[in-house]
Amino acid sequence: MKITKHQWPLLIISGQFNMPNDEGFRLNELVHELEEVQQCSVIPSFTYEDAKEIFISRADIGVVVVDWDLPEEDDHELMSAQELITFMRGRNKTVPILLLTDRLETEDIPVDVLKKINGYLWKTADTIEFLSGRIETHLLEYIKSVYPKFFGMLVKYSEEYKYAWHTPGHMGGEGFLRSPAGVALFKFFGENTMRSDLSISVPELGSLLDHEGVVGDAEKFSAHVFGADYTYYILNGTSNVNQVIWRSQVLPEDIAFVDRNCHKSLNYAMVITNAFPIYMIPRRNKRGIIGPVRLSEFSPETIAKKIRDSKLIPEKLKKNLPKMSALTNSTYDGVCYNVVNIKKELERSVANLHFDEAWYAYARFHPMYKNHFGMSDDDNANHPPIFCSHSTHKLLTAFSQASMLHIKNGSSVKINPDEFNESYMMHGSTSPQYSMIASLDVATKMMHDNGQVMFNDMIVEAIQLRKKVVSLLNDLRAEDSNDWFFGMWQPKTVVINGKEHRFENVEAEVLAATQSAWVMSKNNSWHGFDDMEDDYAMLDPIKLTFTTPGIDDEGNMADEGIPAGIVTNYLIDKGIVCEKTDYYSFLLLHSLGTTKGKQGTLLAELFKFKELYDRNAPLREVFPELTSAYPEAYGNVGLKTHCNDIHKYFKDHKLLESMQKAFQVIPDQVMRPAEAYHKVVGKQVEYVELKDMMNRVPAVMVVPYPPGIPIIMGGEILNEKAKPIFDYLQKRQDFENIFPGYQSDIHGVERIEKNGKKYFRTMCIKQ
Ligand SMILES: Cc1ncc(COP(=O)(O)O)c(C=O)c1O
Repeated sequence: MKITKHQWPLLIISGQFNMPNDEGFRLNELVHELEEVQQCSVIPSFTYEDAKEIFISRADIGVVVVDWDLPEEDDHELMSAQELITFMRGRNKTVPILLLTDRLETEDIPVDVLKKINGYLWKTADTIEFLSGRIETHLLEYIKSVYPKFFGMLVKYSEEYKYAWHTPGHMGGEGFLRSPAGVALFKFFGENTMRSDLSISVPELGSLLDHEGVVGDAEKFSAHVFGADYTYYILNGTSNVNQVIWRSQVLPEDIAFVDRNCHKSLNYAMVITNAFPIYMIPRRNKRGIIGPVRLSEFSPETIAKKIRDSKLIPEKLKKNLPKMSALTNSTYDGVCYNVVNIKKELERSVANLHFDEAWYAYARFHPMYKNHFGMSDDDNANHPPIFCSHSTHKLLTAFSQASMLHIKNGSSVKINPDEFNESYMMHGSTSPQYSMIASLDVATKMMHDNGQVMFNDMIVEAIQLRKKVVSLLNDLRAEDSNDWFFGMWQPKTVVINGKEHRFENVEAEVLAATQSAWVMSKNNSWHGFDDMEDDYAMLDPIKLTFTTPGIDDEGNMADEGIPAGIVTNYLIDKGIVCEKTDYYSFLLLHSLGTTKGKQGTLLAELFKFKELYDRNAPLREVFPELTSAYPEAYGNVGLKTHCNDIHKYFKDHKLLESMQKAFQVIPDQVMRPAEAYHKVVGKQVEYVELKDMMNRVPAVMVVPYPPGIPIIMGGEILNEKAKPIFDYLQKRQDFENIFPGYQSDIHGVERIEKNGKKYFRTMCIKQ
């Protein structure tokens, strides 16, 4: 299907539509000419305010025509034409805005408006054909400018309806039409998906592996927009980005300095490079939320000590500095680091800096995040090369698995693109998916054109939701001081222009424009992290951590409580899928796809949960599947009783404390992650049940969710020092047996069943 100009409607704002006068007559004629002769579509709007709303909600407006002179009776308009034009230009730098006027001469129009418009249309002086022709010309020019280079070429090529004699074998979709299942797929995805699925042998689209042609241009454009010296498109997710980065720099015997709170792809990066890891330890608060690694972890002295203390690194290598550091920025819960300060520390002791920003590709585009992202510009004249991984698909708008790898050259050490490309090609396919490339190209153009506007809208909406949750609790407590509702992990008070205010009393727009309100400090300890350094880490407003009752900021457990997993199970049943569930908190992400409707539904469901909890509704009513699967365990309890049973178990068995202790230990390394993996390949591994795991060495990393941090890496030993890890896993296993149906995710752990009981087991090195 071709995209036509009809799909880019013209917004015409005038109070004259259908008026019984000359202007009304001519305006109707103009609309008729545009629709019937030019085959354009027209959205009429009668007031500037309505036009503003339409403009906010539709990014497909192709041209705006503003009647500068609304008639006398419309003087009550709340907004002037000038304000409307200023507003629209603020949101879209390039959409053609044309003034429709006849009373004012050019010199009467304020200069400020002149700077923002693309031309005039004289209401009475020009013919209708001429006016519609001018509008169409602007429209066509604008549509052309909307397409970034690669995507534009892909669309052009697909629309040329060429005969394909190359892969992919379905050849523009034809192959699917030979069998009913194929027809179903063709109809589902549509013809454009098929026609744009092309072979690397189409020269017009350039070469991804060589970064040439329009695809190379697209990567260069992304580098410019994201503040990098080089950007590479990676079509196998950030998991792969991380490996390309490490493969390009790290050799066997090199030391790597890695955030313990790292994604598993970094473990695999260690495996493929055969590096010796030393770890940065993140803080966590009493609620169990993972916080920033201490700044002191990055000092040359601390790094040197970690290397000295390593039982694994051979003495002859101990004088070497780490070849690579890898820090997760932001953390899952939205804690972002002041990268400018971290660079100053790490530049003294690490050869390459890697910031894994899988969840944070948008940071460059809003002043909220100034200095808190890897590609930040600063005047540091001494930094090593910096690498950043972005899952463009996670919180920007690319297709799944479409990611970007950004590189900033070091002040003196430059990255050689030809050398780097060897690692790129080692992890790339020679048959790239072009629609994924197009989505990266388009994500870049979107951020370039109006990234700040889009993210400001999003941040403001996320803050409005945050404020709403706090206000709801305040309202409930005003009626009954013992009432409860969910809370938000966020500042309770903020300082704006030197004055302290309650968070919920500050306008969302003001909070969105005040980075300092979100920066963590020792003085305002809402975050619960010990020894918080100033100007070091901030909370990202769009990562929404909801808290549930049961534990306070000091980690004191109340007599009653609501484990977050029960709430998120309820929400899942209602079609609301959360990003992450901890013991007493759950995380929801705001993204470009979040709508006001989603927010309303969420709040309504949280209220419904509260209502069910408060009346101790039978669990049969709330979780019918759970109760019918385990009638003996849950058949006769109510929701409140059920929440309190699990809460009491957590409290009595000190699960949170046990988790804290487990994660404070970095177990002794017996072999490198790579060697542990080599044992897997060499079949020198066996499954070991948890009860027998003391003094054994897992061959794979074990990552319990929550909190999603590796508790033990492949090659580390579960010895006496690591006993808290064993104890914690044991408690998790017991919990699953006492509360059937509550099986949480633990990567690296399998469950086996014996006599109706579940037992954990893990792949360990054979003794
Ligand atoms: C910190 C971090 N890095 C990397 C990745 C991998 O990203 P992708 O899913 O794009 O492969 C993830 C995924 O969750 C992540 O959380």
